[in-house]
Amino acid sequence: MFQILSKSQTDTEAIAQKIAPLFQSGDLILLDGDLGAGKTHFVKGFTQGFQSEDSVTSPTFGVANFYRAARCDILHIDLYRIATIEAFNDLGLTDYFDQCVVCIEWGTKFADYFDDCLLVSLASKGANERLITFSGHSDKYNEIKATLC
Ligand SMILES: Nc1ncnc2c1ncn2[C@@H]1O[C@H](COP(=O)(O)OP(=O)(O)OP(=O)(O)O)[C@@H](O)[C@H]1O
Ligand SMILES: [Mg+2]
Repeated sequence: MFQILSKSQTDTEAIAQKIAPLFQSGDLILLDGDLGAGKTHFVKGFTQGFQSEDSVTSPTFGVANFYRAARCDILHIDLYRIATIEAFNDLGLTDYFDQCVVCIEWGTKFADYFDDCLLVSLASKGANERLITFSGHSDKYNEIKATLC
């Protein structure tokens, strides 16, 4: 487990951008936190860390967005409106998990289903401060800590 305090939206994006080089195809990140906690902005910074030119938006209607990048593509999923794991499976998105880094907002809804993932939790500590906690089944803590400290 590793925690870092973000003091602004830009801070959150910079944190995500810095750790992006530690990830590759097949890696899975679950993003947890209330509405407006900063999950989408985290993915925005993360995608910038892959030098992607695609713009990151909340995947409101399509449930998922793909962002192209030279090193590997990013698959951004939002499970807020997905009620069951069956409904998620019907989307066929897991077919792409091996070929992309996968970031899933509200992924902890089905936490038992997604194993072997890094959990990134964002907790609001006021208007602009967010405590970001990295946890879950990941061997990347030491690298994340070394990158961010
Ligand atoms: N430290 C911070 N980190 C991230 N966002 C912040 C921070 N401080 C303020 N904000 C603001 O909080 C909001 C976060 O919005 P964002 O869409 O990223 O949240 P979200 O967790 O994806 O919400 P949702 O659950 O609706 O998808 C933005 O308006 C952003 O400007
Ligand atoms: Mg969002």
